[in-house]
Amino acid sequence: MQQSKLGNTDLWVSRISLGMMSLKGGSTMLNTRIIQEAYHQGVNYFDTADLYERGLNEDMLGQVLHPVRDKVVLATKVGNQWNSDGQTWNWKASKPYIIKTVEASLSRLKTDYIDLYQLHGGMIEDPIDELIEAFELLKKQGKIRYYGLSSIRPNVIKAYAERANIASVMMPYSLLDRRAEALFPLLQRKQIAVVARGALAQGLLLDKPADNYLQLRSSEVSHARKQVDRLAEHLGVDTMTIVLSYVLSNPLVATAALGIRTLAQLHELQPAIAQLRTLTAAERASLELGLRRLEFTDHLL
Ligand SMILES: NC(=O)c1ccc[n+]([C@@H]2O[C@H](COP(=O)([O-])OP(=O)(O)OC[C@H]3O[C@@H](n4cnc5c(N)ncnc54)[C@H](OP(=O)(O)O)[C@@H]3O)[C@@H](O)[C@H]2O)c1
Repeated sequence: MQQSKLGNTDLWVSRISLGMMSLKGGSTMLNTRIIQEAYHQGVNYFDTADLYERGLNEDMLGQVLHPVRDKVVLATKVGNQWNSDGQTWNWKASKPYIIKTVEASLSRLKTDYIDLYQLHGGMIEDPIDELIEAFELLKKQGKIRYYGLSSIRPNVIKAYAERANIASVMMPYSLLDRRAEALFPLLQRKQIAVVARGALAQGLLLDKPADNYLQLRSSEVSHARKQVDRLAEHLGVDTMTIVLSYVLSNPLVATAALGIRTLAQLHELQPAIAQLRTLTAAERASLELGLRRLEFTDHLL
């Protein structure tokens, strides 16, 4: 598995990684096997959040990866607090909350440090400098190694990129959703890595029946799919390899955190792991040809 340095840090992450959100129900036999097999295939970056299943998801990851803790990069998120109804949550962005909440994540992850602690969203109205102070303090205390952001708000990303030492921004990025590219020059200048999510567009770029996606109509999704299929055939590789190579051809994108839910889906990654390639400008252009490019419409710079 190819690895990449996460921005300006000393963390080396597998270019294909796992997002844990799709693995429901804690450390079931299936989930445990998916995580272990992924690790044996070379995946070393695992993304979770305290929000996912009220901490059960972190707990699962901690249990399964405990024996190889020093060989993996654990990324989790903070900022959402469950309400007492157990069904809804609210945004809770304050320095004391972050400092308190990290303890629960550390305990569930069964570790004494988190490699990448990400603010799980964020609003421009937050007390941003105070939140940065919280992350910096945790870093000084050795409870986290680096911090980052998971956001799709350009104004929030810009604020942290300019005022904080963030290592990365997790953002949706795929052939169908290139909105993130508007922020790439800023992130590049600041040596901040992109962790791509949504790289598979929920499977719509693979074998799922075409459907509307974000503002794209299903006919536009099918058009993209045909171009992926055509390039895959031309290069003699599978569609997964093209879909992931597209996202990872940009060196700013350190890893694509994929929402794998089944062992079969994990196995479908094997050829891509072996054949991942940097697409040429012409190959990328052939995929993008005639495809409407989405743009951010809210929370602008
Ligand atoms: N705000 C945030 O911080 C935030 C938000 C969203 C996601 N994330 C993170 O990013 C990760 C990935 O995000 P995502 O789940 O939205 O995006 P994704 O990876 O594009 O989509 C995941 C879905 O793709 C489908 N899929 C996977 N492998 C497939 C295959 N071989 N063939 C066909 N379909 C396949 C599965 O659908 P089925 O379930 O139908 O099989 C799966 O649920 C999450 O797990 C989470 O860690 C973070």
